[in-house]
Amino acid sequence: MKITTEKAEILAFDLFGIKGNATILPGELDFNFRIKVEDIEGYILKISRPDEDIGYLDFQQRLLQHVAKNGKELISPLVIPDKNGNAISEFKDDLGNVRMMRLLTWVSGRIWSGVNPQLDGLRHSLGEQCGKLTGALQGFDHPKAHRDFDWDVAQSLWTREHLDLFEEGKKKIVFFFQNLFEVAQPSYKKLRKAVVHNDANDNNVIVSFDLVNPVVNTSIDYGDSVHTQIINDIAIACAYAIMHHKDPLEAALPIVRGYHSTFALQETELEHLYIAIAMRLVISVTKSAMNKIAEPDNEYLLISEKPAWGVLEKWHAIDSDFAHYSFREACGFKAHPMEEKYLDWANGEKLELSELFPSVAKKDIHNLDLSVSSTWLGHQKDFDDLEFFQFKIDKLQKQYPKKILSGGYLEPRTVYDSPSYDKIGNHGRESRTVHLGLDFWLPAKTPLHALFDGEVTIAIDDAGDKEYGGLVVLKHRSDSFDFYTLYGHLTVASVTEKEVGQIIKKGQCIGYLGNPSENGNWVPHLHFQIMLSLLGHKTDFPGVAYYNQIAVWKSICPDPNQFFKLENLRPYGTIANEELLNYRKQHLGKSLSLQYKVPIKMVRGDGQYLIDQSGRKYLDTVNNVAHVGHEHPRVVQAGQEQMALLNTNSRYLHENINALAKELLETLPPELNVLHFVNSGSEANELAIRMVKAFTGEKDIIASEVGYHGNSNMCVDISSYKFDSKGGKGAPEHTHIFPLPDAFRGRYRGDDTGIKYAEEIKILIDTIHKKGRGIGAFIIEPIISCGGQIELPKGFLPRAYEYVRKAGGLCISDEVQVGCGRMGKTFWGFQLHNVIPDIITIGKPLGNGHPLAAVACTREVADKFANGMEYFNTFGGNPVSCAIGAEVLRTVKKEKLQENALTVGRYLKEELKTLAQKFPIIGDVRGQGLFLGFELIDTKLNPLGERADYLADRMKDHGILMSTDGPDYNVLKIKPPIIFTKENANELLFYLKKILAEDFMKSY
Ligand SMILES: Cc1ncc(COP(=O)(O)O)c(C=O)c1O
Repeated sequence: MKITTEKAEILAFDLFGIKGNATILPGELDFNFRIKVEDIEGYILKISRPDEDIGYLDFQQRLLQHVAKNGKELISPLVIPDKNGNAISEFKDDLGNVRMMRLLTWVSGRIWSGVNPQLDGLRHSLGEQCGKLTGALQGFDHPKAHRDFDWDVAQSLWTREHLDLFEEGKKKIVFFFQNLFEVAQPSYKKLRKAVVHNDANDNNVIVSFDLVNPVVNTSIDYGDSVHTQIINDIAIACAYAIMHHKDPLEAALPIVRGYHSTFALQETELEHLYIAIAMRLVISVTKSAMNKIAEPDNEYLLISEKPAWGVLEKWHAIDSDFAHYSFREACGFKAHPMEEKYLDWANGEKLELSELFPSVAKKDIHNLDLSVSSTWLGHQKDFDDLEFFQFKIDKLQKQYPKKILSGGYLEPRTVYDSPSYDKIGNHGRESRTVHLGLDFWLPAKTPLHALFDGEVTIAIDDAGDKEYGGLVVLKHRSDSFDFYTLYGHLTVASVTEKEVGQIIKKGQCIGYLGNPSENGNWVPHLHFQIMLSLLGHKTDFPGVAYYNQIAVWKSICPDPNQFFKLENLRPYGTIANEELLNYRKQHLGKSLSLQYKVPIKMVRGDGQYLIDQSGRKYLDTVNNVAHVGHEHPRVVQAGQEQMALLNTNSRYLHENINALAKELLETLPPELNVLHFVNSGSEANELAIRMVKAFTGEKDIIASEVGYHGNSNMCVDISSYKFDSKGGKGAPEHTHIFPLPDAFRGRYRGDDTGIKYAEEIKILIDTIHKKGRGIGAFIIEPIISCGGQIELPKGFLPRAYEYVRKAGGLCISDEVQVGCGRMGKTFWGFQLHNVIPDIITIGKPLGNGHPLAAVACTREVADKFANGMEYFNTFGGNPVSCAIGAEVLRTVKKEKLQENALTVGRYLKEELKTLAQKFPIIGDVRGQGLFLGFELIDTKLNPLGERADYLADRMKDHGILMSTDGPDYNVLKIKPPIIFTKENANELLFYLKKILAEDFMKSY
């Protein structure tokens, strides 16, 4: 029998004295109504079925009252007594059945399952709230809390009866967990018990309305509360909140950390968290499988089953010990339970290097830094060249003949290039970078000997995986713990001669260092590592770990130098970012800004990637300076080689300056045939304006609104982007600004606005003339970068040039951002508009990161400028810069990068337009080649700068660098190195799509 909303309203009034509007809420057992009352959130009215056991209702009401009393800071539903003071009311329905009824306060917020994204902070607050609730429930009990209940993890072995519901693969997984849980029973049964909420599933958790930094307000629905092991409660919260994550273990850790911060978990409880999470999921998939048989047509059952299986399969692939150690670390315990005992013992040992390498009579080491920021390591290509790397090692060894070259413990490295080092994690691409062992760089065939008695546990040749080649792992036993030592990169004979189980005595030879042909293709060395657990590995063990797991790994794999105690063999360390930041704040100018709320320390570049100190690779979609790719090998080489020979000014004859000039002139129209080399875009524009003044005798400059041309006095004076914003004082007397020629949101909109904007130039010319002055120059970028990637409307530039020239002025094209092939269709930006400027200024891309810029102009302009005063530039046109610049231009040609900018840029632009159809927040997609932008706006074309900021920040979280610009900072700019590939574009698009779907991006 149904109860109508009218009836619910009458009941609320008659029994509780509350007048409000009722709406039906979904509920499994109860009839639930929300009763909205003016000005307040209202109530939830719960009407039970006629056969409901009043004992359970009493249990729930008393539990809520206990929480209200004990959990003062918790936002939990309050019990509203009826007019007679009863927590449970009764009424007779139309059929004469007696029904129980309860009224609770409404808890407002969003349901967890509808929150996107669910980030670490949110999951941490979920843990905190669950912990607080468990705390508030301490001391509460009720006879009905002790019940047989399918959803109680402690009772979950009932699922064994239903194993046959699953096909083979799934059956195996379910069986695995059931088995593990059964084995754990003796210790699991001894864990602390209490009445717990037992159902923090994704529809029972209420999240605040804050879309950027949401927190969990509370859990609702106490219908599943039960007296059980406390650990089950957090296990349930984890089981649901880790769904839909690539790495569920990583997703679980903030929840555990949060829970432990409000309700301290015990070490024995953490031992069982992995299996408790699994068993909750086993209950869930078993229930789904049973329901599917009962209701074969119910599609919803299939949908809800999928994420549970998704996470269960991933959970199965995670080593239970590793999960246990990670949970311990999250709670502030030593990740490996034996670490402290091991360290006590190891600290008492003192071994000599000669015990490991008796044939090498050396006592000390020279630390060899192979970290991501190592200048000794240099360019990746030098490391990849085995012969060259060997040569460098040999040279270093000669420099330190009495020492063994060694190091590498906890060093973040980027030298590993096999795909087995990469994965897609919860935050995009991740790579294993942290080296867990010590390396000893010694010649092939060097024998190594056992430091302790041990038993061979692994002896294999894994050269196929290119990790270790010949690999031996020995197991060592002490009174209270076991540990393992690992020896990688050995000869194949070292492993084939061994048998698992074989005993090796202290001092006995273990094997020999291998040549590259058998050691995984490395320069000969020993990788020596300690492990306190094998984590289920039987034929290998990782020697390199993910940086975000470093705290756990360093506990599992302690520092091998604990045995040798060598002073200069310390674990890798680097200056903390906070220290860098503090120094910067004290001693560097305040007007220097840093990108991102949490700044990144970049230490290496590689093609279209920038790499931070932990080895994390960021896809760089921002940097049009690293034009042909960060640290392009040939460009680096050109600079290094010339630097070693000579660097001086342009007063001497040198081939490099001519070579660069030739390369540049090849790309320019014949009219622009004289060059001056300078060091920055600002310097180029500064020189251009000097030329204008020399040529025209005038100082009035016409420039674009929101244009930027550099940081020098003159450049700031013609940059509306600077003088019209923070700290600026408006246009100086001789600068004349025309409206940003933005056909999307500018003064004139739509097609055919080119002529209208050109007329604005005409108006300015007339104004200058009216003041009795002439025109110096008109300066503009072919795509206005700081203005928000504004493409000049068709017809604008030719008409503007016509007006300016008629008035005696010069036309300058600022190609600092767009030049050198980036436009795709053309090599220079002005060529898109069929005009030829009098002067062009070239900057950023020309030196690929090295300070190099240029001014190209007509012979007439150059000759007038050369009025007898020498133009001297200390650094401009020096041989090193010119060698670099010439190589950049050759690379653009050789690698057909202009063509690449055209094809990849075209593809990306089209795909962005498709994305804009799906996400109307993208109002406009524009640009040419690999100089693109898209603008975020609301339905009334208002700019959404905060959303742009959020998007750039979230993209950074996923390893993609983007920047925002435009007068309202609502334009995302895309101007990557022009080696950017279609795969890079697809990665960018994938994450854009993901972030654009997040709640904050959709709330405008
Ligand atoms: C269009 C344009 N012109 C000139 C400059 C100044 O170049 P630099 O920073 O090398 O002095 C910039 C720099 O961002 C620019 O974007």
